[in-house]
Amino acid sequence: MSSASSAATPVADSTRRRVAIVHGPNLNLLGSREPEKYGRVTLTEIDERLRAMGAAREVDVECIQLNGEGELVTWIQQAGPHVDGFVINPAAYTHTSVAIRDALLATGKPFVEVHLTNVYAREPFRHHSFLSDVALGRVMGFGALSYDLGLTGLLDRLG
Ligand code: DQA
Repeated sequence: MSSASSAATPVADSTRRRVAIVHGPNLNLLGSREPEKYGRVTLTEIDERLRAMGAAREVDVECIQLNGEGELVTWIQQAGPHVDGFVINPAAYTHTSVAIRDALLATGKPFVEVHLTNVYAREPFRHHSFLSDVALGRVMGFGALSYDLGLTGLLDRLG
């Protein structure tokens, strides 16, 4: 799998560590979507930086963005056996999706939940996460840097 915007086939096996970066709905619009909240950095730029961070540590970083809940569940199921962990911004599904929580748990792999914004400084319906109690950690409020911090934390834990 490769690009941030296509529905991709999960990664192939290899001896290198592999981490999946999973972006949920509407994050394909980063750069133009409510830039006062989400900034001007595009998803492509975020993914490029994360891949570079991984390459510096000899870790394969695979990035995917999907808008559909079912698509995300299917992709996580298929990627699970082939990756060592996930960094996920489930976007709006953070606040609604038992299915994505269950899919991540079913993989048995650790995951870090990230958000560009501080969801606690926003509407009350964004304060609940279906993932945070089962996540390795949660990073929010630092814009695109939240992803870097999340990946750093996951790689540190993976060793
Ligand atoms: C978000 C926060 C969510 O509440 C929202 O639905 C998003 C993005 C963030 O990264 O700040 O789409 O996950």
